[in-house]
Amino acid sequence: MTLSRVHVSLDGTRDYEVLVGHSLTDSVAQRVRAICPTAARAFIVVDAGLPRAASDHLTSALSSRQFATATITIRPSEADKSLETLERILVALAESKHERRDPVIALGGGIVGDVTGFAAATYRRGVPVVQCPTTLLSMVDASVGGKTGINLRTSDGSLKKNLVGAFHQPRLVVADVALLSSLPDRQIRAGLAECVKHTLLSGQFGDSSLLSWIESVAQAILARDPATLAELVSRNVAIKARVVAGDEREEAESAAGGRALLNLGHTFGHAIETLPDLSPTGNPADAPLHHGEAVALGTMAALHAATSLKLAPSALRDRVGTLFSRLSLPTNVRGLPSGERVLELMGHDKKVQGGVLRLVLPCDGGVCNVVENPDRAIVLAAIESIRA
Ligand SMILES: NC(=O)c1ccc[n+]([C@@H]2O[C@H](COP(=O)([O-])OP(=O)(O)OC[C@H]3O[C@@H](n4cnc5c(N)ncnc54)[C@H](O)[C@@H]3O)[C@@H](O)[C@H]2O)c1
Repeated sequence: MTLSRVHVSLDGTRDYEVLVGHSLTDSVAQRVRAICPTAARAFIVVDAGLPRAASDHLTSALSSRQFATATITIRPSEADKSLETLERILVALAESKHERRDPVIALGGGIVGDVTGFAAATYRRGVPVVQCPTTLLSMVDASVGGKTGINLRTSDGSLKKNLVGAFHQPRLVVADVALLSSLPDRQIRAGLAECVKHTLLSGQFGDSSLLSWIESVAQAILARDPATLAELVSRNVAIKARVVAGDEREEAESAAGGRALLNLGHTFGHAIETLPDLSPTGNPADAPLHHGEAVALGTMAALHAATSLKLAPSALRDRVGTLFSRLSLPTNVRGLPSGERVLELMGHDKKVQGGVLRLVLPCDGGVCNVVENPDRAIVLAAIESIRA
């Protein structure tokens, strides 16, 4: 399989590449040596959910490129995306005598990538970080763009997601689809929800055929055909790279969209993701919703609102709903609380500023609009549209 490269353009000095392919461990070591020619050490943060062989191969490939390696394994849960885990990594970096020129490598899903990136942003005021994502979601989304961080538990006991962090762009990202073979189906689906979301803004970022391509290869994706997965990852990374290049620190005017466009489906999604009893299948044993499942439901609600506002034809909503169903993602859910309650939870979303609710709504042709303070009745009807 050919190796594909997506270039992330920032300011010319901090640009980097995302390599996408199959069985790339040796390429990681070779590229890390090229990026850090004088480094003596490499520090690897490993996701506890990975098969042991993944980190063993990376460690020996780095050793063969004259890196002394140190590793630390972390449990990837939102509760462990914490100050305590950050401290463990920082202490281990100090104890391994990690220097400013030495790279830190995140080998894991989005939680490992975010906390490792934040540790790299703060240790010695910043050391190089290389992201080696191992979930589909972290390949197509979390590893690219430089957002790093942890959650913070406040004194009322609540967990504030991603409240503390830094922008720290990686020097390199390597997405090795061979690593997806051990990923549970439900985690693959979580990544697919973000890929389908990308199809609704891809026209704006140079790939207007992404939706029809995913429809045409849905079976091969579910069968985890390596070449199809690699193309899926590289096309989605290309979109994320273009969004980030246009608005690195999410500072674009809201009407222009910028990085905030990636929140499509997330304002509804974040609200329902916090409800512990919702299940994607209706079976209570499958509760709560995973992030990707909430994003699929949120995207369906956004499509309903877009249809009501005549921004998008109802055929687009039906088409995306059919694709979510083929990918075993939910398009409606039992047990939603009242629309008013969901609306109140949407008001808690961290993207709501100054009490102004902003919804990213899909139009036809892979283009989205940001709509400020949409009519309340339209938002309530959108919530009702995903009630089973
Ligand atoms: N920085 C960003 O721009 C950004 C964007 C999106 C999401 N995120 C963050 O990413 C996190 C979610 O990331 P995620 O969806 O990757 O989930 P995750 O990091 O929680 O990983 C999901 C599960 O998969 C396991 N796993 C990872 N790779 C595996 C593999 N190859 N084989 C078997 N099991 C494997 C993990 O151990 C974990 O149990 C959230 O904390 C979210 O806030 C960050």
